[in-house]
Amino acid sequence: MELRFSGLSKRFGRRAVLRNVNGAAKPGEVLVVTGPNGSGKSTLLNILGGLLRPSQGEVSYLANGRALPKEEWHRHLGVCAPDLSVYEELSAMENLRFFTQVRGLRLPDKELAAVLEQLGLKGADFSRPVKQFSSGMLQRVKLAQALVHRPEVLLLDEPSSNLDEAGHRLLKELVMAWRERATVVVATNDPREVAWGDRVLELAH
Ligand SMILES: Nc1ncnc2c1ncn2[C@@H]1O[C@H](COP(=O)(O)OP(=O)(O)OP(=O)(O)O)[C@@H](O)[C@H]1O
Ligand SMILES: [Mg+2]
Repeated sequence: MELRFSGLSKRFGRRAVLRNVNGAAKPGEVLVVTGPNGSGKSTLLNILGGLLRPSQGEVSYLANGRALPKEEWHRHLGVCAPDLSVYEELSAMENLRFFTQVRGLRLPDKELAAVLEQLGLKGADFSRPVKQFSSGMLQRVKLAQALVHRPEVLLLDEPSSNLDEAGHRLLKELVMAWRERATVVVATNDPREVAWGDRVLELAH
């Protein structure tokens, strides 16, 4: 799916956070959204994910040049964001099983395990409640949740938060591999991640 957005503005009360923001990304591209703290990166990603309504402007997802209805494109999104959580009493496997089932998918445990392994988690960790995980391990589960249903659009807000160096390298490989088959949007302030962008959208205060 191709993403296009135009004339986006968002106000919270009298406060204007986004003003006339435009952008686009096609399958095979990474769009990086960057800008200082509070410039509206997370707000923009929430609007692109259909979780927040813009005060003005349009977001569309297109397939073969045709804009899709929201029910359609919403199913093909994968989202990882600081304010989206996983269920802490459940194991990593149970979380993935839950998130795939609410999307109407039933994937074999082997496939779920393969995604967790891809994120660098070890077999021994799959059945522990994730509340026992470190914050970096938890971030890996959240990334697995975003990828497990093989989405056509990936919206990643600060995807490397809490990741170590190895985790950061892994994330880069994942984003580069995912770009081959999907449209990827990354909100970040990390210059190494800004460099992943085929397009860069800089938000200002
Ligand atoms: N629900 C809300 N109600 C009121 N103000 C909000 C709300 N959500 C965000 N804001 C405000 O909008 C501005 C942009 O916030 P946002 O989280 O989008 O910034 P950001 O660029 O993601 O920042 P950071 O780099 O810290 O993650 C901030 O000033 C924030 O206080
Ligand atoms: Mg943010």
